Amino acid sequence: RIAGPSGLVIFGVTGDLSRKKLMPAVYDLANRGLLPPGFSLVGFARREWADQDFAQVVHDSVREHARTEFREEVWQQLAEGMRFIPGDFDDDTAFKQLRAAVDELDASRGTSGNYAFYLSVPPKFFPKVVQQLKKHGLADAPEGSWRRAVIEKPFGHDLVSARELNKIVHEVFDPDQVFRIDHYLGKETVQNILALRFANQMYEPIWNRSYVDHVQITMAEDIGIGGRAGYYDGIGSARDVIQNHLLQLMALTAMEEPAAFDAESLLAEKLKVLKAVKLPENLGEHTVRGQYAASWQGGEKVRGYLQEDGIDSASTTDTYAAVKLEVDNRRWAGVPFYLRTGKRLGRRVTEIAVVFQRAPHSPFDSTATEELGANAIVIRVQPDEGMTVRFGSKVPGTSMEIRDVTMDFAYGESFTESSPEAYERLILDVLLGDANLFPRHQEVEESWKILDPIEGYWDEHGKPAQYPSGSWGPEEADEMLARDGRSWRRP
Ligand code: BG6
Repeated sequence: RIAGPSGLVIFGVTGDLSRKKLMPAVYDLANRGLLPPGFSLVGFARREWADQDFAQVVHDSVREHARTEFREEVWQQLAEGMRFIPGDFDDDTAFKQLRAAVDELDASRGTSGNYAFYLSVPPKFFPKVVQQLKKHGLADAPEGSWRRAVIEKPFGHDLVSARELNKIVHEVFDPDQVFRIDHYLGKETVQNILALRFANQMYEPIWNRSYVDHVQITMAEDIGIGGRAGYYDGIGSARDVIQNHLLQLMALTAMEEPAAFDAESLLAEKLKVLKAVKLPENLGEHTVRGQYAASWQGGEKVRGYLQEDGIDSASTTDTYAAVKLEVDNRRWAGVPFYLRTGKRLGRRVTEIAVVFQRAPHSPFDSTATEELGANAIVIRVQPDEGMTVRFGSKVPGTSMEIRDVTMDFAYGESFTESSPEAYERLILDVLLGDANLFPRHQEVEESWKILDPIEGYWDEHGKPAQYPSGSWGPEEADEMLARDGRSWRRP
């Protein structure tokens, strides 16, 4: 799968995402031989840069963040196709220049009119940028070529604003021209959820309410908000992570087998799950939000959220969120899905744990199995990619004592192939026009329907609970599970 003749235009090219992820991903794709020889990269931002200055910035970001080794000849070929357009989004002259650059690259590099426009900008700029693309004839593909828009989250901050955004984008681009990035779907381990479930026979028969007790989906980070106060405050962890990444993980875990492995079939099945999600009646008991407080973490004194630069000391933004959801359908009715995410937690880890019911009966005396945990299948999304199965096994010796053991699959041991970075995979898919790994607007809207009532409840009820940095979140979250007779895993 090698991309055909094409180019990528990045708006917001001076931002963090572009520097840390997008530019290195483009280089890595080129280095792996997955981009066409004439591939071109156009940066657009409010800087007085010439093409060479832009190329230098890309060069530095590649040297710092690329996954693959630096090869001068690959770099040279890529750098020759780099152009920079200085200007802001209101600036008609800049968009005229962009149009001219695209035409020039078609002629000099053979990009054949095929362009993806990557909006790595805050959502408030989406309307302006797409309107400008329309106005300057950039959104309409010349005969026989394609134009695509790539949009980064957040896709709005609630259902109303998401619909508004979708409407604006769809006034200019058809739905199948729009690629919304949820970079979790670009991760190998996330794509493997469907392989695990539907390429095998042994999991599906037990993947349902008859055998599963509950599911825990955790996305924990040890970092704080860093320099992202402007983005994060007022958004918080639930909007930042649950609305997109965790609900997507949940949909992949809970969905039925798609009729085919294509974008339409995947959308249909994920959408059914999201539509079947039921919120608990008592949101106060079954949701928790928290804020990290100053503490020691990893031998270092760290600031609390309210002391971070740029954060209002009265902010009620959540940096931790846990919610209990159910999927009201035949397969899952009555099985809780507990989703949690947080910054400044014990360690960086993302996992999906499918926890099974206890064996209905045990022929062994109860002291033999006293400490036994429940069987579990844990999909380790990151950082230690793989899967763990937990079950009880007899302890060697003269008595019948049974203890939990685990069986592990680790990517590093089973495969010699290296995983592409999520953004590499997703950028390549955009250029190939493969929409399997991109959430559609219907999914985005359904996800907001799930989150909106929770955010609404939180707005009206008190403040986030404080938790020490480096801990596993507020005590209230432990109490939330204890009420259901369960406990969080300590990954
Ligand atoms: C982003 C969130 O979508 O995902 C960030 O906006 C978060 O707050 C990041 O840090 C985590 O991504 P990853 O791939 O490091 O788990």
